[in-house]
Amino acid sequence: MCGIVGYIGSKNSVPILIDGLKKLEYRGYDSAGLAILSDGKIDIVREVGNLSHLENALNKNELCGNLGIGHTRWATHGRPTKENAHPHADCKNNISVVHNGIIENFLNLKEQLMERGHVFHSETDTEVIVHLIEEYYEGDLLAAVQNAAKKLEGSFAVAAICRDHPDLIVVARKDSPLIIGIGNGEYFVASDIPAVLKHTKNIFILEDYEMAKITPEGICIVTFDGEEVKKDIFKVEWDGEAAEKGGFEDFMLKEIYEQPKAIKETMRDKFSKEDEIIFEKLQLSEEDIRNINKVVIIACGTSYHAGLVGKEAIEHWAKIPVEVDISSEFRYSDPILNENTLVVAITQSGETADTLAGVKEAKNKGAKVIGITNVLGSTITREADGIIYTHAGPEIGVAATKTLVCQMVALYIFALYLAKIRKYLNTEETSAIAKDILMLPDKVEEILSGNGKIKESAENYANCTDFLFLGRGIGLPVALEGALKLKEISYIHAEGYAAGEMKHGPIALIDDGVPVVVVATKSKVYEKILGNIQEVKARGADVVAVASCGDDEIEKVADYVFYLPETPEIISAVLAVVPLQLFAYHMAKERGCNVDQPRNLAKSVTVE
Ligand code: M6R
Repeated sequence: MCGIVGYIGSKNSVPILIDGLKKLEYRGYDSAGLAILSDGKIDIVREVGNLSHLENALNKNELCGNLGIGHTRWATHGRPTKENAHPHADCKNNISVVHNGIIENFLNLKEQLMERGHVFHSETDTEVIVHLIEEYYEGDLLAAVQNAAKKLEGSFAVAAICRDHPDLIVVARKDSPLIIGIGNGEYFVASDIPAVLKHTKNIFILEDYEMAKITPEGICIVTFDGEEVKKDIFKVEWDGEAAEKGGFEDFMLKEIYEQPKAIKETMRDKFSKEDEIIFEKLQLSEEDIRNINKVVIIACGTSYHAGLVGKEAIEHWAKIPVEVDISSEFRYSDPILNENTLVVAITQSGETADTLAGVKEAKNKGAKVIGITNVLGSTITREADGIIYTHAGPEIGVAATKTLVCQMVALYIFALYLAKIRKYLNTEETSAIAKDILMLPDKVEEILSGNGKIKESAENYANCTDFLFLGRGIGLPVALEGALKLKEISYIHAEGYAAGEMKHGPIALIDDGVPVVVVATKSKVYEKILGNIQEVKARGADVVAVASCGDDEIEKVADYVFYLPETPEIISAVLAVVPLQLFAYHMAKERGCNVDQPRNLAKSVTVE
């Protein structure tokens, strides 16, 4: 996700801004730029690629000035090009803006602004902001930004500067983070605390609908309605490294806690306000969708588990047969595909070699291919015919967590879309399911608040060497993922199994030294899973259950129960996986493992 920085004071802003942007690199970016106000003009330098490219360009320009804003861009609207990189300027090069977030009504605004004579130079949503500010500007930058902010829908953290005001930065925030670092006669603006920590530990954290007028003499914070806001200074007590992790011990834990927001971001561009479902880059006509005779999902690791969840949703709602294959198997199999087969390749990184090879194979056989990925500009975005983005934000921890729940959510919405077009669900039914999906972020939040109990259970089992994870129906991919997460980061042997398969072999492993984690949420197979729990209890094993709230039965048989808020069966996978991520996390921490970089593993597996 993008990062913004700003500086106002008596020093040269250029190295300070670059240093700040470097501290925001963890957010991911594909281009970067600075706007420096000096000698009555604003100079903008932008480059594609990493910050060293921008630094080279700045050195050539010998840019220098006491006031500036900067940006690292992670492309959402428009390709990663120099023209689309921020900062953006108004028609007269009088005002310059950097932005983090997504402006949902930008097309509408752009049309209106163009009708009023504004000339656009980029494909971005951000450029409407600077033209809108220009439209309202009558000598008061704060008022112009305020009026513009009220017209924007979506999320934004914005910093604006204006040639007429060589000692002023105006910032505004709604649904995207923004902080102001307080120095001695100088101020620092940033998307996140690490960017300013070198200079100050005293911070103002802006809340939604707040904006600030920053001069070397001081800060005035007001709401979008102009009411003054009195704010306490937040004193940062972490060091630089901890700050990048937002105060969390590890990236993995931070990313687990980011899941509610990541899901919201993933849903944002797919559910329109008018009850429509939108997939902007799908490249499938309604006729293509009506003609699909089979869906084949290919993926590896955690993404494969998302695929298994996707199968349940597509078959249940859209009534299309779905096969799910591990990419490394699919690529060397002889799959039966034709032009009416839809292949869905899921890969958070967009770079997994086996999945990309599977995409090639599918295309060679004439199938249409849709990629689901989290990384804009990744290889799959070029190889697949159409793309669905999850907008989870960069995931640094090797263990996939927030990208998984976003893949599941993207698949749910895709399944609804297919069902609607193929007329298996009408508008009312789709809206009812969409409503349940929209409630997932709050429910994940609720689960996260039960972290203490999960930690307690992990402390109890940290010395065990073997685990079994059981599930049925929608609980099976969750169980498989729980086992993968545990083995991946804690190095404990864990097997995920379909609970009904127990009697066909794995039950021989059960004794009092092998705890069994069971996904036992309310579903059509609930009674069956209770039976499976009895079987393992009878053989002396401890049971850790993931269950639906209000289930008192389970308390009687399980040693630990992690409860989930009520939700319809199919979409419960998003919730059920969260306690298992936390369980694996705490187990690994108890055993002193490096959860962010487990041994032998890489974040993107670009080789076979
Ligand atoms: O980038 P991808 O989604 O294609 O990655 C697939 C697997 O390598 C990945 O999910 C892996 O299993 C994770 N480390 C699991 O946490």
